[in-house]
Amino acid sequence: MYKLNNIYKSYDNDKTFVLNNLSFEFQKGELIAIIGKSGSGKTTLLKILATLNKPTKGFYIFDEKNLEKLSNDELAEFRNKHIGIVFQEYNLIGNLTAEENIILPTIFNKKQSNNYKVNEIAEALGIKSLLNKKANLLSGGEQQRVAIARAMINDPELVLADEPTGNLDNDNANQLFAMLKKLNNLGVTVITVTHNLEFAKMFDKIYELKNGQLGLYK
Ligand SMILES: Nc1ncnc2c1ncn2[C@@H]1O[C@H](COP(=O)(O)OP(=O)(O)OP(=O)(O)O)[C@@H](O)[C@H]1O
Ligand SMILES: [Mg+2]
Repeated sequence: MYKLNNIYKSYDNDKTFVLNNLSFEFQKGELIAIIGKSGSGKTTLLKILATLNKPTKGFYIFDEKNLEKLSNDELAEFRNKHIGIVFQEYNLIGNLTAEENIILPTIFNKKQSNNYKVNEIAEALGIKSLLNKKANLLSGGEQQRVAIARAMINDPELVLADEPTGNLDNDNANQLFAMLKKLNNLGVTVITVTHNLEFAKMFDKIYELKNGQLGLYK
């Protein structure tokens, strides 16, 4: 069970709250989309779920663990181990190969990566032939698959994606969903934030972020 409890987040000394007493509970293995207008706080929320941002007030329970008590270093280690993040701009390192990008998170993890693991993920995402290519030579859709592979390499239990269809056409958006679904079928909890309702409708559950709070979208 994961839980955001009475979360507030402001950026300007509590004058306005982007997240305003937001509570949200989800279970292991869920496949969730969060929609909301531009500026509603989707990225802010995702960063809190990713432990990249701390809430101004409120706490985050991650699989029974209260993250409030962890130091920044402990939090970084925790994140690296348990959470995979696909950023909107993918954040790949251009002059490294796809494979080097994919194994990057394992360098900070005590768990050793192995070729078998990279190959297995690359196979599942259909990017085996790209592994030795420099990331800056890949197309947008290819970069995205590499970013997903990187998010998967440490066997996270939670994968978070921010606006992943941003630059994709419909075909690629469908493929992207198929990949997230595949991950989900392996037991990974998946949460995607998007302004794209059509995309969101493919997910098991849709929540809407509005007025700083999250409610089920009907
Ligand atoms: N680091 C920051 N400092 C100050 N204000 C910020 C910061 N990050 C976000 N904001 C403000 O918080 C609000 C929510 O931003 P956020 O990026 O979470 O929205 P969003 O729903 O992801 O929007 P979009 O759909 O355009 O990506 C916006 O008004 C934004 O200007
Ligand atoms: Mg955003």
